[in-house]
Amino acid sequence: MSSGNTDLRPGHQTKQLVIDTANFYMEGVGREGISRTALAAQTREIGQAQRRIQDGSSAGLNAEFAALNLAHEMPAQLPQIRAMASDLARHQDVLVVGIGGSSLGAKALQQAVAPQTPLAGTPRLHFVENIDPYFLQGLLSSLDAGSTAVLCISKSGGTIETVVQYLVLRDWLVRQLGGKNAIRHQWVITDPKRGWLRELAERDGLPSLPVPPQVGGRYSVLSAVGLVPLAVIGVDIEALLQGAADNAARCADADVTANPALEIAALCVLLDTRRSKRTAVMMPYVNRLQLFVDWYCQLWAESLGKWDRARPGSTPAGTLPVRAMGAVDQHSQLQMYLESRHDKFFTFIELETCEYDLPVPLDGFDARHFPFLSGRGLAEVIDAEFRATRQVITDAGHPNMTIRLPVLNADVLGQLIDLYQRATIYAGLLYGINPLDQPSVEIGKRLAIDYLRGTPR
Ligand code: PA5
Repeated sequence: MSSGNTDLRPGHQTKQLVIDTANFYMEGVGREGISRTALAAQTREIGQAQRRIQDGSSAGLNAEFAALNLAHEMPAQLPQIRAMASDLARHQDVLVVGIGGSSLGAKALQQAVAPQTPLAGTPRLHFVENIDPYFLQGLLSSLDAGSTAVLCISKSGGTIETVVQYLVLRDWLVRQLGGKNAIRHQWVITDPKRGWLRELAERDGLPSLPVPPQVGGRYSVLSAVGLVPLAVIGVDIEALLQGAADNAARCADADVTANPALEIAALCVLLDTRRSKRTAVMMPYVNRLQLFVDWYCQLWAESLGKWDRARPGSTPAGTLPVRAMGAVDQHSQLQMYLESRHDKFFTFIELETCEYDLPVPLDGFDARHFPFLSGRGLAEVIDAEFRATRQVITDAGHPNMTIRLPVLNADVLGQLIDLYQRATIYAGLLYGINPLDQPSVEIGKRLAIDYLRGTPR
């Protein structure tokens, strides 16, 4: 682990995530859960995974698991990050061009923790992610090029979806503003040395920041990739890094019962391999976490859905992450969760304290129909919905865990991000696969280019 100081904001008070795994165990959920004995039998493998993470995190941003060191390493780069963010923030609209790991983290955090009413003068952030000419044309027709900034983010610097949309935007800027002026509306975040985008930034003198070479896309939200767009809209990026650093300190123990990331990983792997739970449903009861679940799904799926081609006898690993949202999916997916196959486990996320509650106003007529709503607020109703759903899931014998967020802010989201990045890497190590690569995705990327060349196999 990086030796940096964990106290990035002296005197700060952390409100920790509450992580309740009781219903992953047999004593919580019955025979579909994991026994303490089965977990204890994994002590050797778990110890090995812990040592691998420790060894693989010991060289700062050059480490194998450099992503887990970003919380400690990025504070040194905050001046450059803030400088780029404040240049971008001089514009009315900032277009963030990037896909997958180069977009999802910032999108998720914007939804979760950006102020509901943006401060006056804060730019509007637009994520240009999936290729959709209809969307892009509509967006461009609503913008004034003179007050628009384009931030192109790509670790590899050559992802085709990002490249083509950036080229369209660059051409739009040139046509609207002229070649020289257009240059002043473009910024880049990419590999420090390699790729088309890096060469372009150098050729055209575009301001740029590096993505550490050892940090892969889906693990990059705590690098410039996530920090710059979030700083543009006023998210407290220092608090985000502090939360991640605090969680890293909380997950340093080799003892599975004292390290929540390790415990979550070990239980999820055992639920897959010992109980044939092939689907991992994440179900927050917090609307603002919808995109966080998308971020988790990418992290979990792309990191764990694979097998080790080099290891004889290796079988496919990974549980399929599924997005759900409480209470909406009680009216859509819950019937299947309850009565279909016992092949799923669940992660609920609840919010302990909502910033404010809206009371349910009842007149006499309403109160006669809904007497139980008397004196209640909306936050209490969603809380009751959550408790009821968790109980029926548990009563039906489905293993589940709950993460309780004390509040929804950048610090707490930093903890959550570190928890899941760490748990994902631990799970990969316990499966015996590489959680950092995505070999089959790369095959698809190359084949798409063959189609464009007109030479598909
Ligand atoms: O996690 C990953 O590596 C991917 O999801 C990438 O983030 C995605 O393919 C975009 O890649 P790049 O940032 O190189 O454009």
